[in-house]
Amino acid sequence: MELKFDMEYEDAYKELYEIVKPKYKLFTAGPVACFPEVLAIMSVQMFSHRSDEYKQVHVDTLERLKGFLEADNGEIILFPSSGSGFMESAVRNTVPRGGKVLVTIIGAFGKRFADVVDANGRKAVRMEYEPGKAVKPEELDEMLHRYPEVEAVAITYNETSTGVLNPLPELAKVVNEHDKLLFVDAVSAMGGADIKFDEWGIDIVFASSQKAFGVPPGLAMAAVSERVFEIAEKMPERGWYFDLPLYKKFNEKKKGTPSTPPMPQLFGLNVILRVVEKMGGKEKWLDMYRKRSEMIREGVRDMGLEFLAEPGYESPTITAVVVPEGIKGVDVYYKMRERGFELAKGYGSVAEKTFRIGNMGYMTFDDIREMLDNLREVMGELTRA
Ligand SMILES: Cc1ncc(COP(=O)(O)O)c(C=O)c1O
Repeated sequence: MELKFDMEYEDAYKELYEIVKPKYKLFTAGPVACFPEVLAIMSVQMFSHRSDEYKQVHVDTLERLKGFLEADNGEIILFPSSGSGFMESAVRNTVPRGGKVLVTIIGAFGKRFADVVDANGRKAVRMEYEPGKAVKPEELDEMLHRYPEVEAVAITYNETSTGVLNPLPELAKVVNEHDKLLFVDAVSAMGGADIKFDEWGIDIVFASSQKAFGVPPGLAMAAVSERVFEIAEKMPERGWYFDLPLYKKFNEKKKGTPSTPPMPQLFGLNVILRVVEKMGGKEKWLDMYRKRSEMIREGVRDMGLEFLAEPGYESPTITAVVVPEGIKGVDVYYKMRERGFELAKGYGSVAEKTFRIGNMGYMTFDDIREMLDNLREVMGELTRA
């Protein structure tokens, strides 16, 4: 899609464009390729975020996301940050200094959540699994019996570093039985795996724009439960930039955010939620994600390769592939780049022995077929070498 502008200093644009122009078909972990409708709406000229037009889009985006997350009882909050902002916010707004959070860790992003808890003067109780494993409900139950003093439980819904989807509804049930707050990092899940906020009893579920919604980075979104606001109102020194009650007040009174929002990204999110509707609704959209990931796994399995994820917990948005002995994950990544496909390198403790294939954002089934054909050849070349 070529966008046409009248540019006085077109050469300035061209210099940068040479660096950033699209060169690869993306199968990344994020940022991912954006839908053409997103790129088009993001190119509109800016205007005031306190204007009537902005307010209209803000309220409409909240409503659409509320529907998508089945969060009738929740408040949608939009932060001008990446998704990690919500880790910080969840902790600061609901857990007093020195208070404990049980953080389940199945990979690099669970580790990050625990670091955020500690960095904010709270204490993370770490429940750690080997890479590739998912959290088991009965083990979570056991941990909560052992640490009844924790205020909250943090769960990574989809661990991007290992390609594992945690059994969130079952885990949420356990957390609710123990009457703890539930924070869900859905950064690489929201938009790609189902979320039923009210039914599952979640307190904060958050994501970033640059993942399964296929929007550029810069916007974080969450659904937040009523009891979080009740706790937060009384929480001293919860900060300002990520103050949840302040955001709720601005949603209601100003139909906007306390500071200037990343308007283009917000328009991008809004248009994607409209695309979902035009596609036939959330089930159809999620079905697209399921089919993409199944097609990738089938292709990879046919090459004789194995997955890091334990069977039954495979992610619908990203696949971590284990490389055979003698090959490094990064070799596959660079060989695929030479052929015009950008996959994702392995990440965290499994960086060496894996590479990852993301299926978030804009891609066609033909793109996936073509990528798999090339991957088959690359694996052949590397194993023969
Ligand atoms: C599961 C998960 N959590 C958190 C993050 C951090 O998100 P952000 O970079 O938007 O802050 C990522 C980023 O890849 C992620 O995949």
